[in-house]
Amino acid sequence: MDAKKIREDFPVLQREISGKPIVYFDNACMTLKPRQVIQAMNEYYENYSACVGRSIHKLGNEATEKYENARKTIAKFIGAKKEKEVIFTRNTTEGINLLANSLNLQKGDIVLASDREHNSNLIPWQILGKKKGIERRIVKSKPDETFDIEGFKNMMSKDVKVVSIIHSSNLDGYTLPIKEIVDIAKDNKALVILDAAQSVPHKEVNVRKLGVDFLAFSGHKMLGPTGTGVLYGRYDLLENLNPFMVGGDTVERTTYDSFRLLPPPEKFEAGLQNYASMIGLAEAVRYLDRVGRENIEKHEKELSRFITGEMQGMDGLKIIGVQDPELRGGIISFEIDGIEYHDVAIMLDDQANVMVRSGQHCVHSWFNARNIPGSVRASLYLYNTKEDAETFIEALKTITKLR
Ligand SMILES: Cc1ncc(COP(=O)(O)O)c(C=O)c1O
Repeated sequence: MDAKKIREDFPVLQREISGKPIVYFDNACMTLKPRQVIQAMNEYYENYSACVGRSIHKLGNEATEKYENARKTIAKFIGAKKEKEVIFTRNTTEGINLLANSLNLQKGDIVLASDREHNSNLIPWQILGKKKGIERRIVKSKPDETFDIEGFKNMMSKDVKVVSIIHSSNLDGYTLPIKEIVDIAKDNKALVILDAAQSVPHKEVNVRKLGVDFLAFSGHKMLGPTGTGVLYGRYDLLENLNPFMVGGDTVERTTYDSFRLLPPPEKFEAGLQNYASMIGLAEAVRYLDRVGRENIEKHEKELSRFITGEMQGMDGLKIIGVQDPELRGGIISFEIDGIEYHDVAIMLDDQANVMVRSGQHCVHSWFNARNIPGSVRASLYLYNTKEDAETFIEALKTITKLR
C-alpha cells in the first residue's frame, strides 16, 4: 500500500496552509473524500438527478439502477446475505435510534453494553429506560481498560434481550473481542447490535462471520459523503420490526384509514433519500476494496506503533485507555500534564497544520467516571504517511517542552 500515491486522489491533501502541507489526524470524526467519490456524486447531479423507485422515465430508471447497485456493493462489503438487509440511514446514530425505537422492548428487559459506548449507543437506551422501564447493565473495563469477558459472562441472564456494544472504540482505538461476545450472547438468546462506526472503515468486518444481528456504521468515516450511514439487519428480524418513521416510499398502499407497509429495507427509508451520497458511498467502498482493508489496518498499526514508541520518551505525556498499540488501531489518545487538551490541539494546528480532535469525543461517560477532563486524539487513515507522523512528533516535542 502506497500512502503517498493514495494522497494524490484527495483534493484536500493537495492544499497547503501557511505554506505547509496538511497533517490530517481527525479521521475518527470525519475522513477526507477522494476525487472518485466526489465525481460519482457529481455524475448523479449532472446526468440523472431524478427520483429513485418512483418515476418510471429514463432518468428515474437510471437513478434507481445506480442507487440499488450501491446497496448491492455495500451489502457485499460487509458480507450481508442479501442487499435487502442494508438500510440506508444518515449515520450510525440514526441506525441505533431506529433499533431502540423499533425493537419493542418491554419493562424488565435488559440491554447490556460496555462502559465505553459513544453517546449514540448510550442515550437512546437511557431514554428507553425512562420511557419503558427497560433495565441497562454496563460491563466495566478491567484495570488495563480491556474488555472484561468474565464480567460480561456473569452479567448475562435470560432477561438480557439485547447486547448493544461498540466494536472498535473511538476513544482509544481498542477493539473488543466481538466473536466471544457474540457467542456468549447467542448462548443466552440475546440479540447483538454492533456499533461498527470505527471498525468497518479500518478492518475486514463480515456480519455473517461475526454472527451479529444488527450492525451500524457511518459513510463519512470511510471516505464517503457526509450524512451517510448504513444499518445492517438480518432479514428475518427486519421483517418483524416496525419502522419508527413512516411516510412516502415506506408503504405499498394506503386508504384513509389504513396502510400496508413495504418489505425491508423500503419500510425503514421514509421520504426522499440522499441518492447522490449513497452512490458516492458505494464508490468509497470500491476505493477501500481496491486498497484492501487488511492493508489499511496494517498501515495504521505501523504508524500507531511508531507514534506510541516516540511518545513514550516524552515528559508529561500520557496515553489514555488501552496502552498496547497492538490492541489499538490507528487511534492515539493522550494528555499532556499541565497543558489543557484544547490548547494542545490549537498549538498542533498553529505550529504544524496537525489537525486532531480534543475533548471527550462523545464518550463523556467514560471520561467522567475516571475524572479525566478530556484528551487529545490523533486518528489515522490510509493517506497518512510516516512524514505526517514525524511532523506530529516534532510538534509534540516542542509543546511538551513548554510545560
Ligand atoms: C464508535 C462510534 N459510534 C458512533 C458514532 C456516531 O457516529 P455518527 O455521528 O456518524 O452517527 C461515532 C462517531 O464518532 C463513533 O465513533
